[in-house]
Amino acid sequence: MTVASGDFPPLIRWHVHPDAAALAGPVCTRILAVARQAIAERGVFHIVLAGGNTPATVYRSLARHQEDWRNWQVYFGDERCLPVDDPERNSVMARDAWLGQVDIPESNVHVIPAERGAAKAAQAYASVIAAARPFDVVLLGMGEDGHTASLFPGQPHDGCEPVHAVHHAPKPPADRVSLGECVLNDAQVVLVLITGGAKHAAVARWKAGADLPVAHLHGRAGVDVYLDAAADCGVATD
Ligand code: 6PG
Repeated sequence: MTVASGDFPPLIRWHVHPDAAALAGPVCTRILAVARQAIAERGVFHIVLAGGNTPATVYRSLARHQEDWRNWQVYFGDERCLPVDDPERNSVMARDAWLGQVDIPESNVHVIPAERGAAKAAQAYASVIAAARPFDVVLLGMGEDGHTASLFPGQPHDGCEPVHAVHHAPKPPADRVSLGECVLNDAQVVLVLITGGAKHAAVARWKAGADLPVAHLHGRAGVDVYLDAAADCGVATD
Protein backbone atom coordinates (compact mmCIF):
# COMPACT_ATOMS: atom_id res chain seq x y z
CA MET A 1 0.00 0.00 0.00
CA THR A 2 1.52 3.37 -0.87
CA VAL A 3 0.67 6.39 1.16
CA ALA A 4 1.15 9.56 -0.84
CA SER A 5 2.77 11.56 1.89
CA GLY A 6 5.35 9.32 3.55
CA ASP A 7 5.30 5.76 4.88
CA PHE A 8 3.27 6.41 8.01
CA PRO A 9 -0.11 4.67 8.13
CA PRO A 10 -3.04 6.83 6.98
CA LEU A 11 -4.60 9.09 9.60
CA ILE A 12 -7.99 7.56 10.33
CA ARG A 13 -10.47 9.40 12.56
CA TRP A 14 -13.23 7.10 13.88
CA HIS A 15 -16.56 8.79 14.69
CA VAL A 16 -18.85 6.31 16.46
CA HIS A 17 -22.57 7.04 16.82
CA PRO A 18 -25.25 5.01 18.63
CA ASP A 19 -27.06 3.94 15.47
CA ALA A 20 -27.29 4.52 11.72
CA ALA A 21 -29.90 7.26 12.07
CA ALA A 22 -27.53 9.24 14.28
CA LEU A 23 -24.89 9.36 11.53
CA ALA A 24 -26.90 11.32 8.97
CA GLY A 25 -26.90 14.64 10.80
CA PRO A 26 -23.16 14.94 11.52
CA VAL A 27 -22.18 13.74 8.05
CA CYS A 28 -24.66 16.10 6.38
CA THR A 29 -23.40 18.98 8.51
CA ARG A 30 -19.78 18.18 7.61
CA ILE A 31 -20.52 18.04 3.87
CA LEU A 32 -22.48 21.32 3.96
CA ALA A 33 -19.67 23.06 5.85
CA VAL A 34 -17.07 22.02 3.28
CA ALA A 35 -19.40 22.94 0.43
CA ARG A 36 -20.17 26.43 1.76
CA GLN A 37 -16.48 27.14 2.32
CA ALA A 38 -15.49 25.86 -1.14
CA ILE A 39 -18.19 27.92 -2.82
CA ALA A 40 -17.23 31.01 -0.82
CA GLU A 41 -13.56 30.59 -1.75
CA ARG A 42 -13.76 29.23 -5.31
CA GLY A 43 -17.37 29.47 -6.42
CA VAL A 44 -17.71 25.71 -6.87
CA PHE A 45 -17.90 22.52 -4.78
CA HIS A 46 -16.92 19.11 -6.15
CA ILE A 47 -18.23 16.00 -4.39
CA VAL A 48 -17.97 12.29 -5.21
CA LEU A 49 -20.96 10.26 -3.99
CA ALA A 50 -21.00 6.82 -2.42
CA GLY A 51 -23.18 4.04 -3.74
CA GLY A 52 -24.99 1.28 -1.89
CA ASN A 53 -27.74 1.84 0.69
CA THR A 54 -25.93 3.35 3.67
CA PRO A 55 -25.62 6.92 2.34
CA ALA A 56 -29.37 7.22 1.58
CA THR A 57 -30.08 8.77 5.00
CA VAL A 58 -27.40 11.40 4.40
CA TYR A 59 -28.76 12.15 0.92
CA ARG A 60 -32.29 12.56 2.33
CA SER A 61 -30.90 14.92 4.96
CA LEU A 62 -29.10 16.99 2.31
CA ALA A 63 -32.36 17.23 0.33
CA ARG A 64 -33.96 19.08 3.25
CA HIS A 65 -31.51 22.00 2.95
CA GLN A 66 -31.69 25.11 0.80
CA GLU A 67 -28.19 25.32 -0.66
CA ASP A 68 -26.54 27.09 -3.57
CA TRP A 69 -26.97 23.87 -5.58
CA ARG A 70 -26.01 25.56 -8.88
CA ASN A 71 -22.44 25.59 -7.58
CA TRP A 72 -22.41 21.92 -6.62
CA GLN A 73 -20.75 19.53 -9.09
CA VAL A 74 -21.65 15.92 -8.28
CA TYR A 75 -19.73 12.82 -9.35
CA PHE A 76 -19.97 9.13 -8.46
CA GLY A 77 -17.35 6.88 -6.91
CA ASP A 78 -18.66 3.86 -8.75
CA GLU A 79 -21.60 2.61 -10.77
CA ARG A 80 -23.14 -0.69 -11.61
CA CYS A 81 -23.39 -1.65 -15.28
CA LEU A 82 -27.18 -1.59 -15.43
CA PRO A 83 -29.72 0.33 -17.52
CA VAL A 84 -29.89 4.05 -16.81
CA ASP A 85 -33.09 3.93 -14.75
CA ASP A 86 -32.50 0.59 -13.05
CA PRO A 87 -33.45 0.98 -9.36
CA GLU A 88 -30.20 -0.76 -8.42
CA ARG A 89 -28.09 2.00 -9.97
CA ASN A 90 -26.20 4.19 -7.53
CA SER A 91 -27.18 7.22 -9.62
CA VAL A 92 -30.88 6.32 -9.26
CA MET A 93 -30.59 5.97 -5.48
CA ALA A 94 -28.93 9.40 -5.20
CA ARG A 95 -31.52 10.96 -7.54
CA ASP A 96 -34.49 9.51 -5.69
CA ALA A 97 -33.15 10.35 -2.21
CA TRP A 98 -31.72 13.82 -2.97
CA LEU A 99 -30.72 15.12 -6.37
CA GLY A 100 -34.21 14.83 -7.81
CA GLN A 101 -35.62 16.82 -4.88
CA VAL A 102 -33.43 19.94 -5.21
CA ASP A 103 -32.80 22.50 -7.98
CA ILE A 104 -29.38 21.25 -8.99
CA PRO A 105 -28.91 21.58 -12.76
CA GLU A 106 -28.89 18.17 -14.46
CA SER A 107 -25.63 19.15 -16.14
CA ASN A 108 -24.03 19.37 -12.68
CA VAL A 109 -24.73 15.70 -11.97
CA HIS A 110 -22.04 13.67 -13.72
CA VAL A 111 -23.43 10.16 -13.90
CA ILE A 112 -21.07 7.35 -14.91
CA PRO A 113 -22.43 6.04 -18.25
CA ALA A 114 -22.20 2.46 -17.00
CA GLU A 115 -25.07 1.38 -19.23
CA ARG A 116 -22.52 1.54 -22.07
CA GLY A 117 -20.50 -1.27 -20.55
CA ALA A 118 -17.59 -1.12 -18.11
CA ALA A 119 -14.74 -0.46 -20.56
CA LYS A 120 -16.42 2.29 -22.57
CA ALA A 121 -17.85 3.93 -19.45
CA ALA A 122 -14.49 3.91 -17.65
CA GLN A 123 -12.77 5.47 -20.62
CA ALA A 124 -15.43 8.17 -20.94
CA TYR A 125 -15.52 8.97 -17.20
CA ALA A 126 -11.74 9.36 -16.96
CA SER A 127 -11.95 12.56 -18.99
CA VAL A 128 -14.95 13.80 -17.01
CA ILE A 129 -13.13 13.61 -13.68
CA ALA A 130 -9.79 14.82 -15.03
CA ALA A 131 -11.25 18.33 -15.21
CA ALA A 132 -12.77 18.10 -11.72
CA ARG A 133 -9.85 16.97 -9.57
CA PRO A 134 -8.95 17.46 -6.79
CA PHE A 135 -12.32 16.78 -5.23
CA ASP A 136 -13.42 18.65 -2.14
CA VAL A 137 -15.25 15.65 -0.64
CA VAL A 138 -15.23 11.95 -1.46
CA LEU A 139 -18.02 9.98 0.23
CA LEU A 140 -17.63 6.19 0.37
CA GLY A 141 -19.13 3.08 1.92
CA MET A 142 -17.54 -0.23 2.81
CA GLY A 143 -18.66 -3.75 2.10
CA GLU A 144 -18.49 -6.72 4.48
CA ASP A 145 -15.31 -7.84 2.71
CA GLY A 146 -13.64 -4.46 3.09
CA HIS A 147 -14.30 -3.26 -0.45
CA THR A 148 -14.94 0.38 -1.13
CA ALA A 149 -16.47 1.89 -4.25
CA SER A 150 -16.05 -1.09 -6.57
CA LEU A 151 -12.50 -1.88 -5.50
CA PHE A 152 -12.75 -5.45 -4.22
CA PRO A 153 -10.22 -7.62 -2.33
CA GLY A 154 -8.23 -9.91 -4.57
CA GLN A 155 -8.83 -7.73 -7.62
CA PRO A 156 -5.63 -5.69 -7.76
CA HIS A 157 -5.79 -2.58 -9.87
CA ASP A 158 -3.12 -0.23 -11.14
CA GLY A 159 -3.25 2.33 -8.31
CA CYS A 160 -2.54 5.12 -10.79
CA GLU A 161 -5.42 4.28 -13.14
CA PRO A 162 -8.08 6.96 -12.53
CA VAL A 163 -11.12 4.90 -13.51
CA HIS A 164 -11.38 1.11 -13.59
CA ALA A 165 -13.59 -1.18 -15.63
CA VAL A 166 -14.48 -3.86 -13.07
CA HIS A 167 -15.50 -7.38 -14.05
CA HIS A 168 -16.31 -10.42 -11.87
CA ALA A 169 -17.24 -8.21 -8.91
CA PRO A 170 -18.35 -10.50 -6.03
CA LYS A 171 -21.18 -8.07 -5.23
CA PRO A 172 -23.69 -8.13 -8.11
CA PRO A 173 -23.68 -6.92 -10.73
CA ALA A 174 -20.37 -8.37 -11.80
CA ASP A 175 -19.63 -5.53 -14.20
CA ARG A 176 -19.04 -2.11 -12.68
CA VAL A 177 -17.06 1.09 -13.06
CA SER A 178 -15.02 2.46 -10.18
CA LEU A 179 -12.83 5.44 -9.46
CA GLY A 180 -9.32 4.30 -8.64
CA GLU A 181 -7.40 4.79 -5.40
CA CYS A 182 -5.41 7.70 -6.82
CA VAL A 183 -8.61 9.62 -7.52
CA LEU A 184 -10.43 8.69 -4.31
CA ASN A 185 -7.37 9.85 -2.36
CA ASP A 186 -7.04 13.07 -4.37
CA ALA A 187 -9.51 14.79 -2.06
CA GLN A 188 -9.18 17.08 0.95
CA VAL A 189 -11.99 15.30 2.79
CA VAL A 190 -12.65 11.54 2.59
CA LEU A 191 -15.72 10.34 4.52
CA VAL A 192 -16.50 6.63 4.91
CA LEU A 193 -19.97 5.60 6.15
CA ILE A 194 -20.29 2.18 7.79
CA THR A 195 -23.33 0.81 9.66
CA GLY A 196 -24.56 -2.54 10.87
CA GLY A 197 -23.10 -5.49 12.73
CA ALA A 198 -22.40 -7.28 9.44
CA LYS A 199 -19.61 -4.78 8.81
CA HIS A 200 -17.96 -5.30 12.25
CA ALA A 201 -15.53 -7.98 11.12
CA ALA A 202 -14.21 -5.82 8.28
CA VAL A 203 -13.90 -2.80 10.60
CA ALA A 204 -11.93 -4.91 13.07
CA ARG A 205 -9.67 -6.20 10.29
CA TRP A 206 -9.13 -2.63 9.03
CA LYS A 207 -8.17 -1.50 12.55
CA ALA A 208 -5.84 -4.50 12.86
CA GLY A 209 -3.96 -3.43 9.73
CA ALA A 210 -5.36 -5.86 7.18
CA ASP A 211 -4.60 -5.00 3.56
CA LEU A 212 -8.17 -4.22 2.52
CA PRO A 213 -9.18 -1.91 -0.32
CA VAL A 214 -10.78 0.45 2.22
CA ALA A 215 -7.47 0.53 4.12
CA HIS A 216 -5.79 2.08 1.07
CA LEU A 217 -7.77 5.28 1.64
CA HIS A 218 -5.80 8.20 3.03
CA GLY A 219 -7.06 11.36 1.32
CA ARG A 220 -4.99 14.51 1.45
CA ALA A 221 -5.65 14.95 5.17
CA GLY A 222 -6.64 11.54 6.45
CA VAL A 223 -9.97 9.74 6.49
CA ASP A 224 -13.05 10.32 8.65
CA VAL A 225 -14.98 7.11 9.29
CA TYR A 226 -18.55 7.54 10.54
CA LEU A 227 -19.86 4.30 11.96
CA ASP A 228 -22.55 3.07 14.33
CA ALA A 229 -21.99 0.98 17.46
CA ALA A 230 -22.99 -2.19 15.65
CA ALA A 231 -20.27 -1.77 13.04
CA ASP A 232 -17.71 -0.55 15.56
CA CYS A 233 -17.93 -3.19 18.25
CA GLY A 234 -20.36 -5.72 16.88
CA VAL A 235 -23.11 -4.75 19.29
CA ALA A 236 -26.29 -6.20 17.85
CA THR A 237 -28.85 -3.47 17.44
CA ASP A 238 -32.39 -4.17 16.32
C1 6PG B 1 -21.93 -0.36 -4.53
C2 6PG B 1 -21.20 0.56 -3.59
C3 6PG B 1 -20.41 -0.22 -2.60
C4 6PG B 1 -21.08 0.05 -1.28
C5 6PG B 1 -20.73 -0.99 -0.25
C6 6PG B 1 -21.64 -0.82 0.98
O1 6PG B 1 -22.06 -0.05 -5.71
O2 6PG B 1 -22.40 -1.37 -4.02
O3 6PG B 1 -20.47 1.49 -4.18
O4 6PG B 1 -19.06 0.10 -2.49
O5 6PG B 1 -20.69 1.34 -0.80
O6 6PG B 1 -20.92 -2.27 -0.81
O7 6PG B 1 -22.96 -1.01 0.55
P1 6PG B 1 -24.19 -0.76 1.59
O8 6PG B 1 -24.12 0.69 1.98
O9 6PG B 1 -25.42 -1.07 0.80
O10 6PG B 1 -23.94 -1.68 2.76
